[in-house]
Amino acid sequence: MKKICPSILSADFGKLAEQIKLAESAGADIIHCDIMDGHFVPNITFGPEIVSKVNEITSLPLDVHLMINSPERYIDAFHNAGADYISVHLENNYHINRLTAYIKNLKIKAGVVINPATPVTSLECILEYLDYVLIMSVNPGFGGQKFVSNSLNKVRELKSIITKNNYNCLIEIDGGINIDNIKEVSDAGVDMFVCGASVFKAKDISKAVRDLKKIIT
Ligand code: DX5
Ligand code: ZN
Repeated sequence: MKKICPSILSADFGKLAEQIKLAESAGADIIHCDIMDGHFVPNITFGPEIVSKVNEITSLPLDVHLMINSPERYIDAFHNAGADYISVHLENNYHINRLTAYIKNLKIKAGVVINPATPVTSLECILEYLDYVLIMSVNPGFGGQKFVSNSLNKVRELKSIITKNNYNCLIEIDGGINIDNIKEVSDAGVDMFVCGASVFKAKDISKAVRDLKKIIT
């Protein structure tokens, strides 16, 4: 089943609990948490303390997207905070096989993220070990950006490699997903859709989740 993963980056942090509950009761599947360090990406967000609060607020699985340098130093902290999925970027990790094996060993889902300028082919030697790949469809760092158009071809290319090799690896997409493009993105082969602004900046959060979900179901 395809999954909607609202990203709390675009939520009102003064009303975080209320807004997460709205998304959850409208049918959101996973809560996406964006961790930024001001080095790997220009922005700074939050750490394990907040993730652990989010874990108290919701019974949904938590998907932690690490946009930080030296992520290996923080895997345990996010695991202890309640992460069910942890993804790390390919671009700033020399030992991605070791790092994802470490995450899987914790009995949670391990994913690798690639930025818009990183080719899908660079994942070929790691795909068979992964639970999911996260294709960034914006340059990471901020919510509310425009979908980078070549992301669709990257999804199709990845989907065909996964299918051809019969890998057990899901495809997640992150950035600029909204009611107007989610159908095409879904048809390209995406399983998990991160939605920030299109959910939490919507006038009606519950309706936004329901409308997005209807299209992919
Ligand atoms: C961007 C983050 C995204 C962000 C997406 O670096 O990884 O998860 O919240 O936001 P939207 O859906 O608004 O593009
Ligand atoms: Zn993200």
